[in-house]
Amino acid sequence: MITIDSPLDMHLHLRDANMLKIVAPLSAKSFSAAIIMPNLVPPITTIEAVISYKNRILDATSKYNFEPLMTLFFQDSYDFEFLQKAKKHIKAIKLYPQGITTNSANGIKSIDSKSLQMTLSAMSELDIPLCVHGESDGFVMDREAEFLPIYEDLATNFPKLKIIMEHITTKQSVELLNKYDNLFATITLHHLLITLDDVAGGMLKPHLFCKPIAKRYEDREALLKVALSANEKVMFGSDSAPHPIDKKESCGCAAGVFSAPIALQALAELFEKHDALENLEKFVSLNAQKIYNFIPNKKRITLKKIKFKVPSQYADIVPIFANSELSWSIVA
Ligand code: DOR
Ligand code: ZN
Repeated sequence: MITIDSPLDMHLHLRDANMLKIVAPLSAKSFSAAIIMPNLVPPITTIEAVISYKNRILDATSKYNFEPLMTLFFQDSYDFEFLQKAKKHIKAIKLYPQGITTNSANGIKSIDSKSLQMTLSAMSELDIPLCVHGESDGFVMDREAEFLPIYEDLATNFPKLKIIMEHITTKQSVELLNKYDNLFATITLHHLLITLDDVAGGMLKPHLFCKPIAKRYEDREALLKVALSANEKVMFGSDSAPHPIDKKESCGCAAGVFSAPIALQALAELFEKHDALENLEKFVSLNAQKIYNFIPNKKRITLKKIKFKVPSQYADIVPIFANSELSWSIVA
């Protein structure tokens, strides 16, 4: 048995409308709070949109003690005055390169410290963390590595700005974390478990297809090393990104792995397998509290070694490991 105080998911897609009503309670059952991604259509770019989206999430999760930690979709027009007003409604701002992933058409074309100077210096001054989807538009396996010089430029020129490298997938990203005090990272469950072989090495597995794509064995090793040791630079962010089954099992498969309802159970199994259960609470809660400098709502989640059969679907969404059996269940 293991009890975790206030598990946190520091990168979560909850979508909107019907989908929100299906997936939000599944996260709210397991987690005390989550960083909510702003890539709706249209993206969340105003304070009013943040507040009303937050209310829709709270409505959908009213049975649970769950705090949505809201974000804005980065725009280079955000100035100090706007951000000063926004600050009390958000925990971070998420920057997407234009067109690089789902619903990022309104992202930023050229990302560098000079052209984003106004917004990034205001964020730095106001202590608003910058979350980044760090991929170039190059060859799919090289996209994350090609983006690293941009992280270096931002980290060097805004040394007080907290920069979160979202869902890192490569050993080069892990290495970069050590070079800059202001760089941190989220790591997903699926990137700790799978490589490109699982996605495309045999029969194509659409439910494992996501951005950034899972990489090589040595990359997964590097991610596992920092996650299992609960290195203080990294924290759990599921990047659980649901799409309806017809958008996944289709020619033109949408990117995104839906993992939220099974994430804690699978993490317990993974940490136990590597004899690292004592570090799980740091990875899924304490590290994020330190990095983001906040205290979450109290919520204790107890997991027990009881077999848990992952459902084949939650409504019309297929979770990772559908129909398979995990060795841990949430009991309270
Ligand atoms: O796989 C992904 N799905 N990666 C992203 O960056 C976006 C996400 C989504 O919103 O579906
Ligand atoms: Zn995401």
